[in-house]
Amino acid sequence: MHRRSKLSVIGAGSVGSSLAYASLIRGSADEVVLQDINAALVDAEVLDIAHGAPLAGRSTIGGGADIEVTEGSDVIVVTAGAKQRPGQTRLDLAGVNARILDGMIPRLVELSPDAVIVLVTNPCDVLTVLAAERADLPAGRVFSSGTVLDSSRLRNAIARHTEVPSSEVQAVVLGEHGDSAFSHWSQATVAGVPVEEWRLSDGSAPVTPALRDAIDHEVVTAAYRVIEGKGATNYAIGLSGARIVEAVLHDEGAVLPVSSPLDGVHGITGVALSLPSVVGASGVARVVDVALTDDELDRLHRSAGAIADAVDALH
Ligand code: LAC
Repeated sequence: MHRRSKLSVIGAGSVGSSLAYASLIRGSADEVVLQDINAALVDAEVLDIAHGAPLAGRSTIGGGADIEVTEGSDVIVVTAGAKQRPGQTRLDLAGVNARILDGMIPRLVELSPDAVIVLVTNPCDVLTVLAAERADLPAGRVFSSGTVLDSSRLRNAIARHTEVPSSEVQAVVLGEHGDSAFSHWSQATVAGVPVEEWRLSDGSAPVTPALRDAIDHEVVTAAYRVIEGKGATNYAIGLSGARIVEAVLHDEGAVLPVSSPLDGVHGITGVALSLPSVVGASGVARVVDVALTDDELDRLHRSAGAIADAVDALH
């Protein structure tokens, strides 16, 4: 008898409701629950998504304002909290969102002691360190979406310039999900070909150092541009969260650039940032010790420093 999987999404704002919606459409979990302290909002979001559920597939949607609706979850994705205003950095949200998170983690763990907890709320790397401490669960059970979204943005940008579908682009963003993030160019490939060796149909090499710099800027500033135009990002982060949920619930062992508290990888300890990680039923099974150029290692350590400073400021 198939045991129905349960995903709870905390926060019914644009990110949480988009993540619930994406999970329903993709069939990421059998049961999707949306929870928010704003009863009117969460009831309306659940109702609106439920009205489309018969057209989406087998998953069901439910939820409400009481945190008890999350009981028995297999995966909990936390999206609740203040969001970036135009021009505001993700790190600027650390104080207010740390307080929101601190209040909810113990109860979430009490209701779902076996759940994997995924932080989406920003600054997700900083909050992952705090949530992991607060939850006191086995290593890997608390992590964040990290640069899964940034890496999708990077793949989209590379695909646009290399005449291939993004499914043919293997590339990740590493470090902070924030202003110090950087692309792992030394390992980026198009259909298995190193990006700098890729040729267009006219024989030209599109991925020049100048294009790499332009793409780096496009990826790191992407959220600011979307927020400037519509007030928040939600669709891409919703899909990123749904993808992570699937890796956990299907015990895929997928290698995804999620952010978990590091224990010595590349000489970094006690800070959460994104490196390719094996994601399955127990959360992050292990962080992959990928090869980095000297410049990439330096940028990883700069990311670690930015996150460590933000964590220290909260303690
Ligand atoms: C973004 C938010 C989720 O990068 O941090 O769109």
